[in-house]
Amino acid sequence: MTDLQKTPEQTATRWTPDGGRDPLAGRHGAIGTSLPRIDGPLKVRGEAQFAAEVPADRLAYAALVTSTIARGAIATLDTAAAEAAPGVVLVMTHRNAPRMAPPAVIMTDPRAAGASSLPIMQDASIHWNGEPVAVVVAETQEQADHAASLVRVTYREEPASLSFERAIAVGRHPDTVLGEPAVIETGDAETALRNAPHRIDRVYRTPRHSHSAIEPHAVTVWWEGGDLVLHDATQMLHMTRYTIAGVFGMDEERIRIHSPYVGGGFGSKGPWSHHFLAIAAAKLAGRPVRLALSRGDVFRVIGGRTTTEQRVALGARDDGTLAALVHTGTAAMTTHNNCPEQFTFPARHLYAADTIRVEQRVADIDMVANTFMRAPGESVGTFALECAIDEMAGELGLDPIEFRRRIEPETDPTSGRPFSSRQLLKAYADGAERFGWSRRAAAPGAVRDGDWLVGMGVATATYPYYRMPGGRVRITLGRDGRAVVAVAAHEMGMGTATVHTQVVADRLGLSVDRVDFQHGDTALPAFTMAGGSSQTATLAAAAHEATLALLEELLRLAGNDSPLAGLTVDEVEARDGGLGHRGSRERFESYASILGRAGREEVGAEGESPMPTETQSFSMHSYGAQFCEVRVHAVTGEIRVSRFLGSFDCGRILNPRTAASQFRGGIIMGLGLALTEETQFDERNGRIMNPSLAEYHVPVHMDVPEIDVIFTDIPDPRAPLGARGIGEIGITGVGAAVANAVHNATGRRIRELPITLDKLL
Ligand code: MOS
Repeated sequence: MTDLQKTPEQTATRWTPDGGRDPLAGRHGAIGTSLPRIDGPLKVRGEAQFAAEVPADRLAYAALVTSTIARGAIATLDTAAAEAAPGVVLVMTHRNAPRMAPPAVIMTDPRAAGASSLPIMQDASIHWNGEPVAVVVAETQEQADHAASLVRVTYREEPASLSFERAIAVGRHPDTVLGEPAVIETGDAETALRNAPHRIDRVYRTPRHSHSAIEPHAVTVWWEGGDLVLHDATQMLHMTRYTIAGVFGMDEERIRIHSPYVGGGFGSKGPWSHHFLAIAAAKLAGRPVRLALSRGDVFRVIGGRTTTEQRVALGARDDGTLAALVHTGTAAMTTHNNCPEQFTFPARHLYAADTIRVEQRVADIDMVANTFMRAPGESVGTFALECAIDEMAGELGLDPIEFRRRIEPETDPTSGRPFSSRQLLKAYADGAERFGWSRRAAAPGAVRDGDWLVGMGVATATYPYYRMPGGRVRITLGRDGRAVVAVAAHEMGMGTATVHTQVVADRLGLSVDRVDFQHGDTALPAFTMAGGSSQTATLAAAAHEATLALLEELLRLAGNDSPLAGLTVDEVEARDGGLGHRGSRERFESYASILGRAGREEVGAEGESPMPTETQSFSMHSYGAQFCEVRVHAVTGEIRVSRFLGSFDCGRILNPRTAASQFRGGIIMGLGLALTEETQFDERNGRIMNPSLAEYHVPVHMDVPEIDVIFTDIPDPRAPLGARGIGEIGITGVGAAVANAVHNATGRRIRELPITLDKLL
């Protein structure tokens, strides 16, 4: 029987964290410890080599020339001066670029990761302001950059869709929203809303955001005959390989991608135009090419989060229960990608209401394709929903946490499924206790410290549990008593290598220093992606299968002369670097001994993440409660976040140190979303006006207080190892927690991000 044939119940039972029928359920203490990141010393010493640092013989450097109109065509293109400039190897434009097929698009083709289906430099047409129109390749980066400045382009402009307001008016429903329907209705919510004794009906707006990972995107590529080698920064190795193979009409096996270290991805580190352009340029040049995007390039050729306008309407009764919950709105998108920013997802699963209506629309804008950006949808969706909940709590005269207690659902409000595990109210209670929520003054504007108004706010964090089918891992045990874990997984700095070293050590009864974790290479067993906060669940499920297969093989190898002879899989356990009888200390044989007697140097087994049947039977989400204290200057409107606490319910925490770091990083990104980040998009010409970190303000040290993080650490019985995702949830709810705190401090309700001081004056 394969896992696909098993009922969800059977599959889930094997994942019961503390035993059940899983003979390898770890009891060795590695899981749950704060093992420091094993890649940490390499990074601190500067020894970790990133994609833009990989050396190559005869390496040439590339620079992009990008369009300055939003829509139309190139009229004239003069590359003569660039070609004559010192050190220039070649200039590639649509006139000499090799033929490339349009990329297959993520969320449209399940194996693909392309950001947009637009052709790459195949004709004179222009689709967004910032689209690459030429690639200059030179002996040095400086020569390439200089020559790029000499390329002269004129354009024939055509009318473009650049106004979000006008695009909303002719908006459309996306086919689906991440595979879910764009519209869900339970009951007649608008009528229930009209008839409710307490109503709020608000519009919230969130701006465009640009990806600002510390490592700008880069590829170093070369051809070896018909084979292609890429050193990339990617969070989706095999999906990138598949996409590139499609563009160049190649056999996937002839492409190898290395990506051992990634300096932050957040959804942006997939294949974009620079991949295809660098590969094409390397082909033309006949030598290795590096295309490392400048920070400005990242703003122009890599999409980010897009603009939303959201309506949240709530109808409540005197007892603080909801008769109606409506969350509708529009996100900007393009006609050539498929990322409608699932801002209504939280409202589908968070609160009980007699009637619920959610609706997502998209408005087509001529811009770089938007893409996933840490909790796409949920980050801005929770801003709208959780501000509205706070507003309604005010209407009802209820404490915002008490209001949420009254609308806590028993089962999923829209799917009707049982929750696999939901401890949101505990997260609130624990957070409230630790944060000192009882000291909050209910009346807005009541607390003043000199010139500073002080307030507290709270909001729910939530992000779905995802596990991807098909991710594979190979685990090999050697006669030296060491295990090698091989998987094309991704280490973006979040601790993947560390945590899965712990996972495999625990399952095999090895100390963590006896496990080597290999990742970041398409030559390793094919894996899915580090996205949707799914990598840990997917990898844990695959490792679960691989270690069980390994156990069976070890027992077979042990044979009749072993102290283990006659024992079945269910009667043994992994311990002390070998296998032993569950019931007695005497019957034990080390892995080294088993392999030695069998005359084997090593034994290996592969496992694959099975279909995620658990999400078909259960509503599975991570949760959290975000607590914020702000100080707002009464004269200038300056906002300072003075305290912050995140209280999370994400199932079992596999490594408190790396988990807390993920949560803190998410919260910091949320502070940027709340207070400073906004990509300025000029609606006259589609130009991004602030393409640098000097003008696009991510939080800096002075913007971030000490952030306290706690977690329930209650295992989810339906998730491998009891662990749900933790990568994205940290940013969710932060915008609303800050906005709600600002309201509590000042009495001013700001419904448009970012909450800059001018909006308070
Ligand atoms: Mo996440 S936005 O899927 O990297």
